[in-house]
Amino acid sequence: MGALSVLVTGGAGYIGSHTVVQLLKDGYKTVVVDNLGNSSEVAITRVKELVGDRANNLSFHQIDIRDKPALEQIFANTKFDAVIHFAGLKAVGESVHKPLMYFDNNIIGTITLLEVMATYGCKKLVFSSSATVYGWPKEVPCTEEFPLSAANPYGRTKLMIEDMCRDIYASDSDWKFILLRYFNPIGAHPSGHIGEDPHGTPNNLMPFIQQVAVGRQPALQVFGTDYSTKDGTGVRDYIHVVDLADGHTAALSKLSDPNIGCEVYNLGTGKGTSVLELVSAFEKASGKKIPLVKTGRRPGDAEIVYAATAKAERELNWKAKYGIEDMCRDQWNWACKNPYGYPTQETN
Ligand code: NAD
Ligand code: WQD
Repeated sequence: MGALSVLVTGGAGYIGSHTVVQLLKDGYKTVVVDNLGNSSEVAITRVKELVGDRANNLSFHQIDIRDKPALEQIFANTKFDAVIHFAGLKAVGESVHKPLMYFDNNIIGTITLLEVMATYGCKKLVFSSSATVYGWPKEVPCTEEFPLSAANPYGRTKLMIEDMCRDIYASDSDWKFILLRYFNPIGAHPSGHIGEDPHGTPNNLMPFIQQVAVGRQPALQVFGTDYSTKDGTGVRDYIHVVDLADGHTAALSKLSDPNIGCEVYNLGTGKGTSVLELVSAFEKASGKKIPLVKTGRRPGDAEIVYAATAKAERELNWKAKYGIEDMCRDQWNWACKNPYGYPTQETN
């Protein structure tokens, strides 16, 4: 049997690029489609540099997944064993102001992808869902059985796509879906070659801390110091992006289990870290002082969110290996080597 072929949508992005490295290392043939709306083709060049000879197994196409004829061409050229679907817009605040843009990109994009997959008889999908579907959880850790809700249009797209997958599976049991609910991915590849490169001002905590550390932002605003947590600040389950990438190869292996239908798994560490704890770990890793401005709560933010990890450990045989110190070390290594993110063009 030859190597398995995987289509990765959004594979030039933060989580996608780290996952593509793992896929190539594990011997998969990998085709990436990405419209580069929130990423750079330099990420693909860097991935190739990281994997040596395995780079021959990677091809990249700048395509929007809503462009059905272009996507069909990709499927006509390669018979895929499975698809990993990262492509989507992910900024919560922006989704509140531009809901139609989010429904168009995330929902129409996914429908187009699923239609083309059905036409070409590829019925195995790993989807990037999010812990955002737990809303403000009544208790922690969040198990996969918790009630689901959407606090904003971005979250609604994740919930709608999860529901679409459940409905499609109910209508046709040839499909196999693994819905991965990521908690808070941070860090970067230990080489410092690839990492997160948000366009514009970052919305998420770690990229913001990084920009303060390299002098691109004057101070970090701490959103809320009056939560019922250890130090009053919000608590989250930060997970190293390389652990998250490994979770995808584990999910791909699971897709060949004949008993799998439509399954959902949390990808988190099961540990809660507060904003101040993360800042302090980053200060230690970087030797930089992060000036803080304590402000009010950010609307829509939950107090404490962390994952129950037992299901993924048991059924995917996957467990996060890295701790907060590793995440901060690798984030800082990426930041030092790429303080302004990817260059517009690779010069070396
Ligand atoms: P990212 O923005 O770095 O990657 C997404 C990629 O998809 C980008 O390269 C972008 O250019 C591409 N893309 C977007 N719309 C597209 C389209 N219509 N056609 C083709 N390409 C398109 O984000 P990420 O952090 O790597 O997230 C990947 C996925 O994981 C997203 O679906 C996101 O919602 C989900 N997710 C992310 C987080 C997080 O905190 N980063 C948490 C939970 C879930
Ligand atoms: C973490 C903590 C903030 C920024 C979001 C999405 C979620 C998922 C991951 C995609 C919170 C605090 C933040 C800042 C701060 N993405 N904070 N100052 O809110 O858990 O989740 O990203 O699916 O859907 O909602 O992550 O990194 O934005 O915030 O104090 O400048 O840091 O209040 O407690 P969040 P985050």
